[in-house]
Amino acid sequence: MAKELIVAIQIAKPDRAKALTGLTKHLKGVNLLQWPSNHAEKGAMSVKTIPDIIMIDDSPETGDLFTRLKTIKSHFPQVTLFVVSDSKDHQHIIAAMKAGASEFLVEPVLEEILHNAIDEVRAKLANAGRLAQGRIYSFISAKGGVGSTVLAVNTAAALSIDKKTAVALVDMSFQSGDASVLLDIVPQNTIMDICANMHRLDVSLLRGVMSGHSTGINFLSAPLNPEDSEDINSEHIASILNLTRKLYDHVVLDCGAMHINDCSVEAFKHSDKVFVVTDMSVPSIRNTVRLCKLIRKFGISLEKIEIIINRFIKGGALSLAEVEKNFDKPVYWLIPNDFSDIVSSINRGVPLIKLSPGSPFSKNVVEFIKKIQGILDDPDFRGVRGTFGKVI
Ligand SMILES: Nc1ncnc2c1ncn2[C@@H]1O[C@H](COP(=O)(O)OP(=O)(O)OP(=O)(O)O)[C@@H](O)[C@H]1O
Ligand SMILES: [Mg+2]
Repeated sequence: MAKELIVAIQIAKPDRAKALTGLTKHLKGVNLLQWPSNHAEKGAMSVKTIPDIIMIDDSPETGDLFTRLKTIKSHFPQVTLFVVSDSKDHQHIIAAMKAGASEFLVEPVLEEILHNAIDEVRAKLANAGRLAQGRIYSFISAKGGVGSTVLAVNTAAALSIDKKTAVALVDMSFQSGDASVLLDIVPQNTIMDICANMHRLDVSLLRGVMSGHSTGINFLSAPLNPEDSEDINSEHIASILNLTRKLYDHVVLDCGAMHINDCSVEAFKHSDKVFVVTDMSVPSIRNTVRLCKLIRKFGISLEKIEIIINRFIKGGALSLAEVEKNFDKPVYWLIPNDFSDIVSSINRGVPLIKLSPGSPFSKNVVEFIKKIQGILDDPDFRGVRGTFGKVI
């Protein structure tokens, strides 16, 4: 299934074409085509690729707008048509919509309006099964402080590093969310702004509430007051995740530690993977067993649940084999102990993957994101190598 949205720009006026290309070309997940004047009017046989969106301009030199819209719509019935015009005349706009335009963008076209219009099409196509939906990964710690936040933040940042992949990070640690601290973000809005306006949840509300970050991640913050989290229910989570996965290639959720409620269960149901983060201490291992059992009790399949051991030290008191005996499946991934690097990243509010890409932790996370995407060179590799580079 297609992952990219194909947008054809067929704009005759050079200034207008340049401005629209500038606004669109950096959008993640968009493949931009430049079409000459009246190209679409010649029909599907004359084009190499059928786009999802065709943007045409409304100018006298390109012919009568309404005739052109009808012609293009008859050739490309599935395509969404955007018209760019300097006219604000209501009758003209209504006539264009009747002739087949889905969006009528009045110049100067604002970036936010164009992006939201494109994202609305993306969501609609994903809904109809014509565009791939993003994958959702939940991280939950088996015990407080074992690392779900550090892992969720760095996984999201690593997935976003190519600047082409659209990644959302949602702080679902509603009682004590601190992912914003690791990103050095002071959120202007939080998930509460969505929950309070659920009836009008759409692309522009979601985008408006999320905070941008220099890593390229879009971040949805937990409530600023923990007591507000009582107003968030599983239906809210379902709606938010359903829309988010239509707009992002990857959605990473920090689900906090140990505690499970209706919201986290809903998140797990939507997730492609639920990562239970633990370390090699006896209390954490015991909690991991309990937590995995509890998650399964809520109907989440064992196939989805994966155990990650954080702060793994080779030759520790307990061997990996001894630890694994307690679990229903092998450990999915091991993350090295890298305390000083992680502490300096937390203190600076810069994800370690960005602050220090060469650190042991960062190198490990780069391999981890390959593993979750099924593109790891050695599929048996679990993050840390044993003696003579052997897979552990
Ligand atoms: N791989 C690692 N190596 C060394 N230290 C680590 C590693 N991962 C996490 N830590 C340390 O553990 C601390 C807790 O991590 P983090 O905040 O991610 O845990 P958490 O499970 O989200 O905790 P909480 O229960 O507060 O939500 C970090 O501040 C960091 O000092
Ligand atoms: Mg946390």
